[in-house]
Amino acid sequence: MKLYNVAVVGASGAVGEELFRVLEEQNFPVGELLPLASARSAGEIIEFAKKEYKIEELTETVFEGRNIDIAFFSAGGSISAKYAQYAVASGAVVIDNTSHFRMMENVPLVVPEVNPEDIELWEDTGIIANPNCSTIQMVQLLKPLHDLYGIKRVDVSTYQAVSGAGKSGMEELVQQMQDFFAFKLEESEVKAFAHRIALNVIPHIDTPQSNGYTKEEMKMVLETNKIMHSDFAVSATCVRVPVLRSHSESITITFEDGVDVSVEKAREVLSNFENVKVVDDLENKEYPMPMTATDTDYTYVGRIRKDIFASNILHLWGVADQVRVGAATNAVRIAQKWIKLER
Ligand code: A2P
Repeated sequence: MKLYNVAVVGASGAVGEELFRVLEEQNFPVGELLPLASARSAGEIIEFAKKEYKIEELTETVFEGRNIDIAFFSAGGSISAKYAQYAVASGAVVIDNTSHFRMMENVPLVVPEVNPEDIELWEDTGIIANPNCSTIQMVQLLKPLHDLYGIKRVDVSTYQAVSGAGKSGMEELVQQMQDFFAFKLEESEVKAFAHRIALNVIPHIDTPQSNGYTKEEMKMVLETNKIMHSDFAVSATCVRVPVLRSHSESITITFEDGVDVSVEKAREVLSNFENVKVVDDLENKEYPMPMTATDTDYTYVGRIRKDIFASNILHLWGVADQVRVGAATNAVRIAQKWIKLER
């Protein structure tokens, strides 16, 4: 079996660490492994497939002579903007988890269950972009329903875990909860989010845009149609909630005029879709929650119901592990398809 030399940029981060786990679980054919991070973590040891590796500092020259086939980038947009080119120049394909390249016309933006064919376009730039975490789990639910009925409009509100802000976001929630039980929540440090996140809900993720939406909301609007090669309307409200991992989404889908939605049919196409699980039995208290999805590679959907007033509208509730489905697992699924391309 051919082995592939793999670099992970952001090896000490939440997504980087999960990437190692997913690569190992999936028996990805890793040859050499090159974990990279900033000078702060250089020298730290990570374990992969029962072997120890030293994290090296990401520099402009670190890829030279290393014969890296696949470089996963997950260290923030500015790092990808600066360093992805060096990985590409050394002959690697970059699978980039940041928003930096996503909307560039000649960069494929891929959710393998939805638009695997776009991976073939990687050669133009050497880069394949991994979509925004909330977008990935949403399009996995939209795709089978769009194929079934044709979507006209999507309205989504997200309930996003602090893991979306990386390790520092998770640590901030834990610290604030500890401070709450020590009766000193008012003194808690607020750094990762716009406000205190413990015992709170913040309708503000990423930077404000001139149209009144946030950048996170606009990612969901623009990326959805790029991935699905569609042009339906999307409106998003992105909200940070005090959950450690796994994003939830309340999604309202309006289908083409004249469609009479069948909940049974919707359930059927969703349950037949790759990596989607339907958990939908309200009477028996069964619906997906962050605790259902965390540490799994599935996108869960439940609370599937027809609108009370319009026959072409369906409401549903989706949940997926943001660090895995929304980042690491999607990146590894892209890599699994990429190694199968004929070259
Ligand atoms: P480091 O730990 O050395 O700062 P998270 O998303 O969990 O916050 O993780 C971000 C990841 O990006 C970490 O692995 C972090 O490494 C890495 N990173 C941050 N800044 C840089 C940089 N300037 N060069 C390389 N890696 C970086």
